[in-house]
Amino acid sequence: MPQNPPTHDNLYAQPLGHVPDFSFDSAVVEVFDDMINRSVPGYASIVSLTGHLAARHAQPATRLYELGCSTGASLFSMRRHVEATGCTLVGVDNSSAMIEACRHNLSKAGGSAAVELYCQDFFDSDISNASVVVLNFTVQFVPKEKRDALINRIYKALQPGGILILSEKICFDDPRQQQLHTDMHHAFKSQQGYSDLEIAQKRSAIERVMQPETLQAHYNRLRGAGFDNAEVWFQCFNFLSLVALR
Ligand SMILES: C[S@@+](CC[C@H](N)C(=O)[O-])C[C@H]1O[C@@H](n2cnc3c(N)ncnc32)[C@H](O)[C@@H]1O
Repeated sequence: MPQNPPTHDNLYAQPLGHVPDFSFDSAVVEVFDDMINRSVPGYASIVSLTGHLAARHAQPATRLYELGCSTGASLFSMRRHVEATGCTLVGVDNSSAMIEACRHNLSKAGGSAAVELYCQDFFDSDISNASVVVLNFTVQFVPKEKRDALINRIYKALQPGGILILSEKICFDDPRQQQLHTDMHHAFKSQQGYSDLEIAQKRSAIERVMQPETLQAHYNRLRGAGFDNAEVWFQCFNFLSLVALR
């Protein structure tokens, strides 16, 4: 079925006297697919290859989760590729506007596996009998003091042989690396058609609510939870994706 092009993101195109904190509200949901594709270098590749990673590790009669699923891109990529029988795809997001958009997209997504969508805080969700868990650009929005508990729970919920796919914006201890990657991200966004004003206003809105960590901090947390086998499988500047094997 032909898909409508995503609504163009121009939320930060006009000067805003006061730039409010970024939130996943209905205005953001309306433009989200365009925003994330034009803001995260490599996003489309990560989403599409997540389906292949999931297909390789999905076990029959298990649950495949996307926590912080937004409009469901990775969830539907998994649904298209996974062939293991009796799997249930589970999407969780605490933004009702996101879950509504995700439910709408479900009607257009390929694949036949059962899908369950929950509008709730994933700290309150049942996470069990999992062979795949996806956290795509979501941990960076979780308060830092709660991140260990989340990864610990996921490790315990995964079957042996299961995987966690963890995609994040990262930061760097070295100030020159930090500046280089910040500048390259800015160049990417300019190339995608965002003006300097849009980039500056979006940065000011998001930096109070999004807290990236170093790659080492992610490795330490994964190892602390029990994942002693984790590697970066994709990186473009300060955006990367890790695969952690249970
Ligand atoms: C950047 S978006 C994720 C993008 C999505 N995974 C993708 O690949 O398109 C982060 C999402 O996480 C959700 N989120 C953040 N904290 C959450 C929590 N504690 N429980 C449920 N959802 C949460 C937000 O509502 C938002 O939709």
